[in-house]
Amino acid sequence: MSEAGSKGQRCRVVVLISGNGSNLQGIIDAASGPDSHYEVAAVISNKADVFGLERAANAGIPSRVLDHRGFDSREAFDQALIGEIDPFHPDLLVLAGFMRILSAGFVQHYAGRMLNIHPSLLPAYRGTRTHERVLEAGDAEHGVSVHFVTEELDGGPVVRQAVVPVNPDDNRDSLAARVAVQEHRIYPEVVQWFASNRLRMHHNRAWLDEQELPPHGVRD
Ligand code: GAR
Repeated sequence: MSEAGSKGQRCRVVVLISGNGSNLQGIIDAASGPDSHYEVAAVISNKADVFGLERAANAGIPSRVLDHRGFDSREAFDQALIGEIDPFHPDLLVLAGFMRILSAGFVQHYAGRMLNIHPSLLPAYRGTRTHERVLEAGDAEHGVSVHFVTEELDGGPVVRQAVVPVNPDDNRDSLAARVAVQEHRIYPEVVQWFASNRLRMHHNRAWLDEQELPPHGVRD
């Protein structure tokens, strides 16, 4: 059991964003629910002037901006990012549309306590333009995955997936909108699992309630 859970304190969550922050909003909203075991301690963006920062301000959550363009290397930026995050003493780091590839040193620093959401049914469609690629391939199903972050890009153990049917008349935006509804449903749920000590990463697999999860995580 983590220190946060054993002492009955709320899990401290730091959220990293690069843009709109609709997943951040879902996580903020769920934090004020009666059964919430977590609080959003800070929001950090690698881009200034993004709407996610307004969402943080509206909720009274401290935020920081660290622009990656001011750094000579990925490692230098990531070390500076750790320097912004750790003063908030996170129990969990949540990537919510944080569009950066992370260095090995950064990933190791937060091993077992960093989650990401990715708009595909992993391991399918790692990387970018997932909605476009699903439509180009003519797939019947698409979806979203929440996973622990490891050094393998979009390759860490999956915790939770939601499947979204692809309609014949879908375009990129209509499909992305239906995926987003599922994102906002499942990400706060997974954060809550971690915060209440039900979820952990062990030997590169995700475990929920002491059960090893299958490769696609929990699906409904
Ligand atoms: C979400 O669709 C999320 O799945 C995706 O970025 C969007 C952020 O939206 N993340 C990735 O593609 C990560 N590879 P939001 O800023 O409104 O939460």
